[in-house]
Amino acid sequence: MSELERRILVVDDEPPIRKLLARILERAGFEVVVASDGLEALETVKSDASLRLVVSDLRMPNCSGLDFVKRAINEYKRDFEFILLTGDGDKTDAVTALRLGVREFLDKPIERADLERAALDAQARLQERDREVERVRKLELENISQSKTLDDISRKLGGAEQEMIDRLSLISQYRDIETAEHCVRVGLYSQLLAEMAGLDQNVQRTIRLAGILHDIGKVGVPDEVLLKNGKLTDDEFKVMQRHTEIGFAMLNSSDNPVLGQAAIIARYHHEHWEGSGYCVGLSGADIPMIARIVSLADVYDALRSARRYKPAYGHSEAVNIITKGDERTSPEMFDPKLLGLFADNHLRFESIYNSMPDQLV
Ligand SMILES: [Fe+2]
Ligand SMILES: [Fe+2]
Repeated sequence: MSELERRILVVDDEPPIRKLLARILERAGFEVVVASDGLEALETVKSDASLRLVVSDLRMPNCSGLDFVKRAINEYKRDFEFILLTGDGDKTDAVTALRLGVREFLDKPIERADLERAALDAQARLQERDREVERVRKLELENISQSKTLDDISRKLGGAEQEMIDRLSLISQYRDIETAEHCVRVGLYSQLLAEMAGLDQNVQRTIRLAGILHDIGKVGVPDEVLLKNGKLTDDEFKVMQRHTEIGFAMLNSSDNPVLGQAAIIARYHHEHWEGSGYCVGLSGADIPMIARIVSLADVYDALRSARRYKPAYGHSEAVNIITKGDERTSPEMFDPKLLGLFADNHLRFESIYNSMPDQLV
């Protein structure tokens, strides 16, 4: 463990419990910093940018554990790992925390072994995400250096590249994964968002093509899960989530810059801005911009389309669900800047949908 990764913040208003938690964590090799309520914890996190691991009680005077988690995520945009200590009657708060991306909850009274395990697991997740962020940066750098020559190549290759993407996306239609229209529309909304976000023309063009392949990894998902009528069980959903990794493995390490971007999109298009997504659980600006764009485009179009488990929604309803949230979606999942662009320009999304509606079969 490096110096920084060993640091952990313990937040509890009761001195004896605070002491006990600190002692357990120190024995497990952590360097412990303490705070006696949410407000003090916010100050501590503010003054110490290296603090990302936090164990916090939920019920505290002044500023509760939940308020602390919300404010820490919103104000410091840091990749945190929280372990929340819950008692009876904290269920609603725990559900809200879960939506904010908190993954560890420990019932009080705390068992030493449970706390040790939770802290070590959280630390391992942080380290894994740090490695992942590093990997993304490298991938993006490689793609930028490749796309410098993309202009020249694309003049020669433009048509061929388009054809390659179209043919690859045909695979999805043969397995009844998504309709061709859905894939193409996701590419088009993504191009629009990229343009509105001020990204350069190369990125706009690339994302239109690469966005088409966002769900290509579903070809590796077994039929009983992929084609199941009705709600997936937790285990089936885990299998379904693997389409991000499979898509990445299929498209990664190509010399072609469009496929390189498509690999990034395939892997990260289900990450959420507040950190509750998959397959890695990245948050905020750690999620590659192109994946944040496709994620919003995909959700809008998925709402507009009929699926095995849901009817197609109209445009206004889809906009409402995205901007206000429902039981499956919340506005915190999306890059706030992109969400603002979407809300201000939603009619342009509707035009794209109307220009290419799903064919009735
Ligand atoms: Fe997907
Ligand atoms: Fe999709």
